[in-house]
Amino acid sequence: MDFLLKKEKPTTNKNKGSSTGFYGFGLDLSSPVESVMGSIETESNEEDYLTGLTTMFKELPLFFVNISKVNGIMCTKNIIVQWVVESVGEGVHEVVEGDTVIPFFLPDCGECTDCLSPKSNLCSKLPFSVSPWMDRDGTSRFTNINGETLYHFLFVSSFSEYTVVDIAHLTKIDPATPANRACLLSCEVSTGVGAAWKTAKVETGTTVAIFGLGAIGLAVAEGARLCGAKRIIGVDVNPDRFEIGKKFGVTDFVNSRNCGDKIVSQVIIEMTDGGADYCFECVGLTSLVHEAYASCRKGWGKTVVLGADQPGAMLTFSSFEVLHSGKTLTGALFGGIKPKTDIPLLIKRYMAKELQLDKFVTHEVDFKDINKAFDLLTGGKCLRCVIWMNK
Ligand SMILES: NC(=O)c1ccc[n+]([C@@H]2O[C@H](COP(=O)([O-])OP(=O)(O)OC[C@H]3O[C@@H](n4cnc5c(N)ncnc54)[C@H](O)[C@@H]3O)[C@@H](O)[C@H]2O)c1
Ligand SMILES: [Zn+2]
Repeated sequence: MDFLLKKEKPTTNKNKGSSTGFYGFGLDLSSPVESVMGSIETESNEEDYLTGLTTMFKELPLFFVNISKVNGIMCTKNIIVQWVVESVGEGVHEVVEGDTVIPFFLPDCGECTDCLSPKSNLCSKLPFSVSPWMDRDGTSRFTNINGETLYHFLFVSSFSEYTVVDIAHLTKIDPATPANRACLLSCEVSTGVGAAWKTAKVETGTTVAIFGLGAIGLAVAEGARLCGAKRIIGVDVNPDRFEIGKKFGVTDFVNSRNCGDKIVSQVIIEMTDGGADYCFECVGLTSLVHEAYASCRKGWGKTVVLGADQPGAMLTFSSFEVLHSGKTLTGALFGGIKPKTDIPLLIKRYMAKELQLDKFVTHEVDFKDINKAFDLLTGGKCLRCVIWMNK
């Protein structure tokens, strides 16, 4: 059952950087964060208005970060925020000064075949890549105090009080939404919930297996719970995740390091008498994609890949296996959600006390304590930490 559409129907580069993988770009935390931040020039650039492509903001109330190891470098992998529009460029009609908005990394131009189709969130006009530039014109809008170019990050660039974002990366939201909750929908919670709701289309009474109970996996559980899944099996190497998972509807837990002489997929096939209806890989390991695929039921089982493995990591399936299993394997960038329409819908479901966002926020810090927030995340001590810019 579609928990969102049940109540309300949604209304309806040239990049110079080379992609090093989904999250191959980021902030090198070996440099003090303050020194990176302190050098951003926040004055508006007249060109922004002339291009008619950009939107500028004031009052960045908070942003939210999560980090992971990418090729050995600690990178910000999500910067999710809620902002207030300061001014708009020519040709921007969707938002006006003073609007409350959420930015997102995945473009939604609203014009191309894919953006116009309800079946896809993969824009063709501004195809997603990991780039240090604005995606429409391949330039940067930032300089430091010496006039040197600073790079954008995932088209959002929120480690500053002001930024410039293409209108394809923004959606307007209800300003009554608490900022420290709305920001969660800028990336990961939307991704996980969307994967269950939009990509898998989890049905009432079904069984779901989630590999990895980080924020993405827990958001999948939340989406599956809202869709009416009967049984939600969480798989993780950290046993603490089961207690946390219960808050989001996880009913069973499998510690993949504690399966005796069995592999995880054998355990799940036994638990479900033939395999789960839906499996989600939420870690970023191809080996787990294979386990997830093996854990879903022949004939109709569907496996959704959310995790981002190293660039070039390969999946291998025999054609016999594919032919005879009748299973579906698909990826879900941003959970398959169409950000401009689906994020405001998710906010409505939060305001209606259906979607649980509160439990994802385990810590809140001021900007001066940003390094503490990174420590909490790398230490696995928090699910999501909200960082306030100007509380
Ligand atoms: N599809 C998208 O659009 C999208 C968006 C954001 C993030 N992601 C990706 O989703 C993945 C998960 O993100 P997250 O923020 O939840 O990460 P996270 O680090 O917070 O959580 C990962 C979880 O996986 C568990 N884990 C690690 N190794 C495991 C193993 N071998 N077996 C079982 N569990 C294991 C960890 O204990 C942890 O609980 C990452 O790869 C991230 O890059 C994808
Ligand atoms: Zn498009």
